[in-house]
Amino acid sequence: MTLVEQADSSQVEDTATRARDSFHAHFGCPPRWVATAPGRVNLIGEFTDYNDGFVLPIAIERRTAIAAAPNHSHTIVLRSEATGETAIIDSSQPLSPDAQGRWTNYPKGVLAGFLDSGLKPCGLDALICSSVPIGAGLSSSAALEAAMATLLEAASGFKLDPVYKALLCQKAEHAYAGVPCGIMDPFISILARIGQALLLDCRSREPTWLPFADPSVAVLIIDTNVRHKLSGSAYAARRRSCETAAQALGVASLREATIEMLEQGSTSMDDMSVRCARHVIGENDRTLGAAECIRQSNWVEFGRLLDESHASLKHDFAVSCVELDAAVEIAQRIGPEGGVFGCRMTGGGFGGCAVALIETAAQQGIVRDIRANYLDRTGIGATLFLSRPAGGASLVKL
Ligand code: GLA
Repeated sequence: MTLVEQADSSQVEDTATRARDSFHAHFGCPPRWVATAPGRVNLIGEFTDYNDGFVLPIAIERRTAIAAAPNHSHTIVLRSEATGETAIIDSSQPLSPDAQGRWTNYPKGVLAGFLDSGLKPCGLDALICSSVPIGAGLSSSAALEAAMATLLEAASGFKLDPVYKALLCQKAEHAYAGVPCGIMDPFISILARIGQALLLDCRSREPTWLPFADPSVAVLIIDTNVRHKLSGSAYAARRRSCETAAQALGVASLREATIEMLEQGSTSMDDMSVRCARHVIGENDRTLGAAECIRQSNWVEFGRLLDESHASLKHDFAVSCVELDAAVEIAQRIGPEGGVFGCRMTGGGFGGCAVALIETAAQQGIVRDIRANYLDRTGIGATLFLSRPAGGASLVKL
């Protein structure tokens, strides 16, 4: 395979090759296109995106790939390798979300965005496969949406502006998956650059790229392998609390609030709104501080900010859970002396993953230690893996 738009690690090729081969086996002919997009891990800046604040994610070396070929009809036939299901979307009929929040809502929402924009992709047979863990806080949904949008660009012969494309994916998530998410996930999945972290100002949507490829440190992702049901409803509830807080403080968003303003205004606010505001105000500062640490390769301070972020997410924003706290505590206890600079929960919370910054040379012992202690404490086996910053959504030419 030759990469059309950008070279990336072997992960692009692995997932794309798997999609191509499964497509061939299922549909009996080779695909014309394979589009891939990465999951992400947010290093810091949690629940700040919908408050117009700062986030600092990297794309990970885990991707979703969709292999497809025109089928000379109005329908998009989508086969999921993960579930073994086939969904048929008729693009000549008005589209609406499927009940019960099925995976089909993500590609359907993206197709709706294309049709609303006046773009008419041709009918397709398509096969989806992915190495992004599902529901783990690593943005499997944005990876699916971004891969779908990249495929539909090819199938409609029109390349979207990347920011427009990311907003189209966010809208799909709002309207079709019912999650009032921010802009972080589609932005990093679409815009990501190999070897760089993205400091994104979610108000101006201005990206700042930070080289993040020091071989002496590594990003360790710890999947707790628990997924709590609360995540969907709590996400919307926290977002409402943030809006209530901004209103009480008389600002357009919590991005404009300061700790002093909160101290003065907190008496007229409910407890949850105060706590949410305190988290967001602190988290924006920590994120800007962490970006500075990357510029200066100050990993000890970077790790301290990760630890602080976790404490704030646990005590103030209240989106952690027993298993995440266990994984984070175990990692933090190893400390910088043992090669763990810091650790925090990442993503939407209530299960999913923690992220740690570790010393590359100490990785084996750290992984062994965390795995054993987490199993001991929770009775659950964690999945641990390292990832370098990967590249964004792209089309792979066969
Ligand atoms: C989910 C959302 C993002 C962001 C994070 C929390 O991943 O999709 O927009 O709000 O949660 O930081």
